[in-house]
Order: sequence, then structure tokens, then C-alpha cells
Amino acid sequence: AKEPVRVLVTGAAGQIGYALVPMIARGVMLGADQPVILHMLDIPPAAEALNGVKMELVDAAFPLLKGVVATTDVVEACTGVNIAIMVGGFPRKEGMERKDVMSKNVSIYKSQASALEQHASPNCKVLVVANPANTNALILKEFAPSIPAQNITCLTRLDHNRALGQISERLNVQVCDVKNVIIWGNHSSTQYPDVNHATVKTPSGEKPVRELVKDDGWLNGEFITTVQQRGAAIIKARKLSSALSAASAACDHIRDWVLGTPEGTWVSMGVYSDGSYNVPAGLIYSFPVTCCNGEWTIVQGLAIDEFSRKKLDLTGAELSEEKELAYSCLS
Ligand code: NAI
Repeated sequence: AKEPVRVLVTGAAGQIGYALVPMIARGVMLGADQPVILHMLDIPPAAEALNGVKMELVDAAFPLLKGVVATTDVVEACTGVNIAIMVGGFPRKEGMERKDVMSKNVSIYKSQASALEQHASPNCKVLVVANPANTNALILKEFAPSIPAQNITCLTRLDHNRALGQISERLNVQVCDVKNVIIWGNHSSTQYPDVNHATVKTPSGEKPVRELVKDDGWLNGEFITTVQQRGAAIIKARKLSSALSAASAACDHIRDWVLGTPEGTWVSMGVYSDGSYNVPAGLIYSFPVTCCNGEWTIVQGLAIDEFSRKKLDLTGAELSEEKELAYSCLS
């Protein structure tokens, strides 16, 4: 039998947390043969709700779940974890300045970075979900210098999956037959969903999405804005954020990272830029990646046309500006 893997979920009493922890305990994230111990962190005002989630996890009698730590103590939460899913953060409330929200999250991610660095398992893999996801991940990276930079990522898989879903609906094909869309840049409305290399499996072989959709106006217009604005559309409809799809995407992100991407398929992950595709180095930026043996590699050599170039640069500029704002909160 495999040794249990310890998985931390911060913000576990929140909406995404509530959808995510049962998925992890059922083996959706790490496989149906991988036992897990869940570490759940939240803040004191949510301690009672967090304990309620723990009670439900016990009541669900998940065979793979070998233990639950529910705590408001960040050191206890981080101790020995192999995987950390950072969902906790300070939400933007009405009337708050961007700088104030950034400042709250910078201080949260700075202190949680130190706790992870000191107490997590040495090769701990980190996924930041809480917004501003890319910049929270960057702060975490900066304040956990002994964690390898390639172990710190942020979630853009939800945007990636949304793009797959839009193409599948438009062409009336199965979503599993669509692949290799790309989300470039920030998990924000400046992200660039790119279909220039995406394909669909058809009875007569793999075909480019561009060839099948035919309508470039839709692909360069409404498709992009629909994916960019999808989070807001869900909030409008549900009066709550997209918790189910975010939790599912977090499982996809970790599963592919740990267990590998299928041959010929790439996925989108927010990772520490090495300057590939002339994206500024030193940002956490979403790229197309393949994963093997627990490591991701940016897909190289994809052609970037002029339309795409502008969009890659625009979302990169927003991230540089966010980085500056985050640093200004530190001083
Ligand atoms: P929520 O407000 O329901 O839950 C957040 C939880 O975090 C709360 O229980 C809160 O008490 C907790 N929390 C606050 N500060 C904390 C701290 N310092 N340590 C530990 N826990 C703390 O929010 P929801 O809907 O679960 O969303 C969580 C985050 O995920 C938000 O920032 C949201 O914007 C982001 N998000 C990101 C997506 C992505 O694709 N990257 C998609 C959807 C949401």
C-alpha cells in the first residue's frame, strides 16, 4: 500500500474549499490508489465552520482519507505537507482600493510562504488559487527562497478548461476531443485564450480548431471575451463564485503535474517565467506546459502571430504592474 500524501488546503472553510476537499478525499486529485491526509487551514472567525467541514469528512467515510488536521495555526497546517493548495485570501470588497486588497494578500502570502518553507516537506508542490493568483504565487516564491521556484505555480487551468468547453459547445463535439488551447498570462480579464494550436479529434483525424470553426471573427472576439469574463458571468448567475469548476480545475492541475500529461497534450499553468516567448522573466505567467515525472516544461517553438503577440504583451504588462504594486506594499 502507498504511504499517504499530506495535502494542505488553505481557506478550507470557504466555497472552493468545500467543493475541493471531498474531491481530494475521493482520489480525484492524486488517483484512486493514493491515500491522503488532509490538512485544512482557515482563520479564527471560520474555525467553527471549518470544524463542521471536518465532521462531514468523517461522516463521508472516504476509504482513501487517512486523517484530517483542521486548524487555524499556520505552522500546524503546513507541517509535513507534500502538496499545498492555497485557496485562502482576502477578498475584494465593495469600495476597496486595489492597493488595499493587494496589501492584505501580500502580508498573508508572505507569512504563509515562511511557514511552508520552514515546515512543509522539502519538495512540496504549491498551487495558488486565491486572487490575485499570479502575484500571490510570486510573493510566496519570493518569501520561500529555499522552495525551488518550479514548485510554485498558480491556477489558470480553470480558464483553460473554460476555453475547451466553449470550443466543444460551438462545434458540438465532446470536450475530451478538444485539446491544446492555451491560456497566456494573468488569471484576470487580460488573460489571452489562444486557439491557434488547438485541435479536435474527428473521425477523419485531428483537425485544427481554426479550420473547423471557420468564423475568425468569433474566435478573435466573442470566444476570447467569453472566457475572460466567465468568472463574472458565474458570479452574476449564482451570486457566488465558480467553486465547483475551480475545485475541479485545481485537481486537474495537480493530477497532471504529479502524474504527467498525456503524450501530445499540453495544459496551461501559471509558472515562474524564464523569459520564454519574450515574456519578462521573474513573473508568474501562464504558459502551455507538458508534465513528466512531477516536473513541468514550457512548450517551446510555437508560432506567435502579431495579434497574439500584442495580447501576450498586454497581460504581461499587467503582471509587471501588479508585481510593482505588490512590492510597494512591502515597504
Ligand atoms: P471564500 O471567501 O468562500 O473562501 C475563502 C476562505 O479563505 C474563507 O473561508 C476565509 O476565511 C479564508 N481565509 C481568509 N484569509 C485566510 C488566511 N490568511 N489563511 C487561511 N484562510 C484564510 O472564497 P472562494 O469562493 O472559496 O474563493 C477563494 C479564492 O479563490 C478567492 O480569492 C477567489 O477570487 C479565488 N478564485 C480563483 C480562481 C482561479 O481560477 N484562480 C477561480 C475562482 C476563485
